[in-house]
Amino acid sequence: MRNLVSVDDMPREWWDGLYSRCCDIIAHPGDYADSCRGKIQASLFYEPSTRTNFSFQAAILRLGGSVFGFSDPKGTSISKGETLADTVRITATYSDAIVIRTAKEGAATAAALYSEVPVINAGDGAHLHPTQALADLTTIAQKRGEIADFCIGICGDLRYGRAVHSLIAALVKFKDVRFCLISPGELKVPRYVRELIYINGLKLYETDSLAESIGDLDILYMTRIQRERFQNPAEYERMKGVYILTKKLLEGARKDMLVMHPLPRYGEITPDVDSDPRAVYFQQAHYGMYIRMALLYEFLRLPKQMPPPVADAAAEITCGNPICITQTELYLPPLISVKDQKRCGYCDKEAGILI
Ligand code: NCD
Repeated sequence: MRNLVSVDDMPREWWDGLYSRCCDIIAHPGDYADSCRGKIQASLFYEPSTRTNFSFQAAILRLGGSVFGFSDPKGTSISKGETLADTVRITATYSDAIVIRTAKEGAATAAALYSEVPVINAGDGAHLHPTQALADLTTIAQKRGEIADFCIGICGDLRYGRAVHSLIAALVKFKDVRFCLISPGELKVPRYVRELIYINGLKLYETDSLAESIGDLDILYMTRIQRERFQNPAEYERMKGVYILTKKLLEGARKDMLVMHPLPRYGEITPDVDSDPRAVYFQQAHYGMYIRMALLYEFLRLPKQMPPPVADAAAEITCGNPICITQTELYLPPLISVKDQKRCGYCDKEAGILI
C-alpha cells in the first residue's frame, strides 16, 4: 500500500504487520527514536483537529523526523485560489508523506492522484477517517487481546460520522463481529457502509434505543452529533443530546464492556463515566499516536514515485454530492467506484453520478 485514503483496500495481512510494528514501538520506543531521522511529514489541515493533527505531529517527532504544514489554509496560497492538485504537487516535493484533512469528500483520493509521496487521509468531510479506524482497532486488540467474536454497539450520528464509516469498513475484515447500530432514523449509516456488513455476511441489528441494547454489548462506541455537517441547523437542534451515556445508564452494561469514543465529545458521555474502568476513550487517543507512528514508519520507507498522468475532466460526468471534491476542483478526472458503477469514485455517494 502506498496511500491510506480508505480502509476498504487495506489487506488483512497489512494490518497484522502494522499492528505488530505498533506493539514493538509501544514495547521499545527507544529503538525507534531515530528511525525516521531526516524524514519530513507535511500536515495539510483544512479543518479543525486536536487528536489527529497533534498525534501525527507527535508521532513523526518521536520517530526522529520533522513536520511542517498548516492547521488553517488562510495563511497559504490556497486563499489566493490555488488548486488542491498544485498544493499537493508542491508539498510533495518538500516532504516524504502528506497527511490531509478536509471538509470536502474524496479530497484525499484526489490528492493521491498528484502526489509523488504517500497520502494519508486524516478525515474527508462526512466520508472517511481511516487512521481513526486504525486507532480503534489498536484499542480493541490491546484491550480484548484479539479482534474477533464481539458485539459492538455504534451509537449516535452514524450518517455524518466519518470515524464510524471507516470503523465499520475495518471491522468487516475480522471474524464474528456483530454490529448493533444505534441511531435515530434520520442519522442511519449511508447505504455504501451498510452494504459492507451484508457483503461480508456479518450480523447487523439496527435500533434507536441505547438503553434497550446496552446490556448486549461487548463494546459501546459513542459518537458526537456532527453539528458542522447538518445543512439545516433546526435538524441539528432536534438531534443534539439524543443519546447521553451516564454512570447510571452504564449500570445496565456488562462488567467488561469497553466504552470507546473518537472524541471530541459534546455532552454524549457525562464526566462521571470517565473514572469507570470500562471507559477507554482517553487510552484510545493515546494508542492512536502509536499506530500512526507505525504507519509513518512504514510509509516513510517508500521511495518517491511520480503518479501516472491524470486524464482530463470529462464535462458530461459530474457527481451530484454538493460536498464532493469534484464540485470545486473542476479539473479532476471522473472516477467511478470500482465496487459499484453507480457510485462516485471520490466520495462514494450512490446516485451521485449524473451522466
Ligand atoms: C473525529 C473526526 O474528526 O471525525 N475526531 C477525531 O479525529 N478523533 C470525530 C468527531 O469529530 O466527532
